[in-house]
Amino acid sequence: MIIASTRAELTAAREKLGAPLVLVPTMGALHDGHRALLRRARELAGPGGAVAVSIFVNPLQFGPNEDLDRYPRTLEDDLAACEAEGADLVFTPGVGEMYPQEQLVTVDPGPPGEIFEGEFRPGFFRGVLTVVIKLFSLVRPDIAVFGQKDAQQLVLVRRMSADFGLGIEVEAAPTVRAADGLALSSRNKYLSEQERMAAPALYRALSAGAATAGGGPRAVLDAAGRVLADEGALFAVDYLALADARSYEPVRDDEDFHGPAVLAIAARIGSTRLIDNVVIEFG
Ligand code: PAJ
Repeated sequence: MIIASTRAELTAAREKLGAPLVLVPTMGALHDGHRALLRRARELAGPGGAVAVSIFVNPLQFGPNEDLDRYPRTLEDDLAACEAEGADLVFTPGVGEMYPQEQLVTVDPGPPGEIFEGEFRPGFFRGVLTVVIKLFSLVRPDIAVFGQKDAQQLVLVRRMSADFGLGIEVEAAPTVRAADGLALSSRNKYLSEQERMAAPALYRALSAGAATAGGGPRAVLDAAGRVLADEGALFAVDYLALADARSYEPVRDDEDFHGPAVLAIAARIGSTRLIDNVVIEFG
């Protein structure tokens, strides 16, 4: 496994790798959710292809009052996880390597980047898409793997690749959960014992919503909302909403919607903000 921390090292390593090259962008603090993405990447790469992982905590996607400084950094363990999952290349640039000068030109995520996460985290998707397009142009993968856990991010990256004609196929990998349903996240490390016990209520709410898909959007939102009202005392909910799974346009609760939709939730518990979602098929 090659570890590259500069653009020059990356370029040199890139030439040694087979095709297709599959990239998994991450911010490190790797857990089993990330590892499932690495395994999916390995599958997609096949015997002749290669897997690249990037590990970079991207300052551009953190707001001024967010957790950039305390975001967990566990590089040694991360490299061991990459090695164990059969990665061929890990790109671990420093901030100066990714942003050698002020990033004046950035990617405008458009209307889908202003709602849901975009509303509560202004500038977030501009930061995400800008670093992702930079990683794409430095690594030049054929395929990139993103988690369904960050459903809006997945839709926006896919849309960016299509709208800019990047020619990079964006693959989705399912959300990996703890046994009690909580979606794995690097930020779960912030939870106190009591908060960790309460956190699976988010997934219970989403599951209750999904179980009433036959009743349409309003029934789904009502069922999920009831679970939160009963079990979500520790939570401050930013949003509980439905979005079209392909475009991420909001689905109104009185809409006669058909097709796949994302039932998404964002909630704060103590000082930690958690997001989760499930995909629901409206027949
Ligand atoms: P990060 O939060 O490290 O996540 C990296 C990738 O892992 C994302 O595609 C995310 O959706 C996926 N992932 C996280 N938790 C998961 C889980 N429980 N199950 C399945 N996949 C999971 O997302 C980012 O980093 C950044 O925004 C990034 C795209 C790297 C740009 O900086």
